[in-house]
Amino acid sequence: MKDQKTTSENNFAQEFKPLKPVTFQTPRGTRDILPEEQKYWQFVKTKAEQIAAVFGFKRIDVPTFESAVLFNRGIGSQTDIVAKELFYLSSKDDSKDGGDQLALRPEFTAGIARAYIEHGMHTLPQPLKFFSIGQIYRHEKPQKGRFRDPYQFNLEIIADGSPKADAWIILASWQYFVELGLNNVEIQINSLGDPSFQKSYQQKLREYYLPLADKLCPTCQVRLEKNVLRLLDCKEPNCVQLKEEAPQTLDHLDEASKEHFMGVLSLLDSFGITYSLNPFIVRGLDYYTHTAFEIMIGASQQDEAKKEAGAKHQLAIGGGGRYNGLIEQLGGSPTPAVGVALGLDRIIEEMKKQKVQVAHEAHTEIFIAGIGPKAMTRAKEVILDLLRGGIAAEFSPDKNSISSQLKIADKLGVNYTVIIGEKEVKENTCIIRDMKSGIQEDAKLDELVSIFTERLGK
Ligand code: HAM
Repeated sequence: MKDQKTTSENNFAQEFKPLKPVTFQTPRGTRDILPEEQKYWQFVKTKAEQIAAVFGFKRIDVPTFESAVLFNRGIGSQTDIVAKELFYLSSKDDSKDGGDQLALRPEFTAGIARAYIEHGMHTLPQPLKFFSIGQIYRHEKPQKGRFRDPYQFNLEIIADGSPKADAWIILASWQYFVELGLNNVEIQINSLGDPSFQKSYQQKLREYYLPLADKLCPTCQVRLEKNVLRLLDCKEPNCVQLKEEAPQTLDHLDEASKEHFMGVLSLLDSFGITYSLNPFIVRGLDYYTHTAFEIMIGASQQDEAKKEAGAKHQLAIGGGGRYNGLIEQLGGSPTPAVGVALGLDRIIEEMKKQKVQVAHEAHTEIFIAGIGPKAMTRAKEVILDLLRGGIAAEFSPDKNSISSQLKIADKLGVNYTVIIGEKEVKENTCIIRDMKSGIQEDAKLDELVSIFTERLGK
């Protein structure tokens, strides 16, 4: 018996011996969004939901992880997003899933296309408009404005091949920025034509770049072999200079693609959206056909100065385009589609830079102070009524004196304090103190919910 005890004591000591102190930190490329930041997040998400509703988009939530093959097939095996940036998962189910490797979603579009096919949504009245808000995961080199778990507000229109759908997506994005109060938003747009055009255009690019291969950066030398379009996206000074003379899509588009593109631009003109043609927008995902665009914050004079001083290029706050081949590529029938994803982290960063005012978060509005045991009992009933009436209220049952309770009310920054004493309990009344002006007034205890509902505009 004695020995047994000694053994278990030893085990305990071994298991709970003090651990070496360690400092835990957020993983590289991620961050906490602390309570004081939440007012921005609340604001951009609420506005996103409002815009989505006004433009007729319905919410869809897809899993945070899917078969890696979906992304490989949908986004393209040679894209940076798939070749370098996928976060793969290992799970106990791997063998049960027939070895299907899972990966965290690096975007929403492929998952939404999968859901459209899986749920036979082609049988519903078309077109379908979806929106999503959430995190995506990309194993990127972390830097300012580039996270490994950023948030996107994503919009898709499926089964509408008309220029109106492209323009609708851009208009919804544009209106979102207007509602957020963000200035200096710039749409840069291009057309990538249809797949057969893309093949011939890529051939033209290859012919142009091959004799210049030794002047390209090492990454572009690989791209020349594997994904020649991406050469137009390189930010290395030498490559930027070489692309100036490269063949441009808009000069070679076929008639049908040109007509679609002109249709989109003409609608943007009617909506009063300013855009600029940028023949070098090729996007980092392989599924795009026809319209491709990015949304930037226009270079202010200050940024121009920085650019001249060699600062890094401007990051996009959104990007999207048409992807007519994706659903077929993933096993569905040929279905045109178009969409956009807006980067919420970068949008918030820009809102702060532009000093956009966002409404203050909801905070505790009423404090109930009870003086004496009977009053405190009544205070508990009152607080329950207020909370049930949707009014943010607090109280401190462990504090007896009025001064210590008022100190807490001050700390919470409430608008009003309700003071209940023994006399008030008897008369079913209370004193309402306006914490800003210090003005006090009498009120009936059982009218508090209606009084505050009206005053706080609930
Ligand atoms: P994307 O251009 O890869 O497109 O991403 C859209 C936006 O998400 C970017 O413009 C940027 O604002 C934000 N974003 C992306 N990666 C990061 C990051 N590492 N850190 C911070 N922000 C980031 C897509 O994702 C496509 N699925 C858009 C689409 C929808 N195309 C058709 N439908």
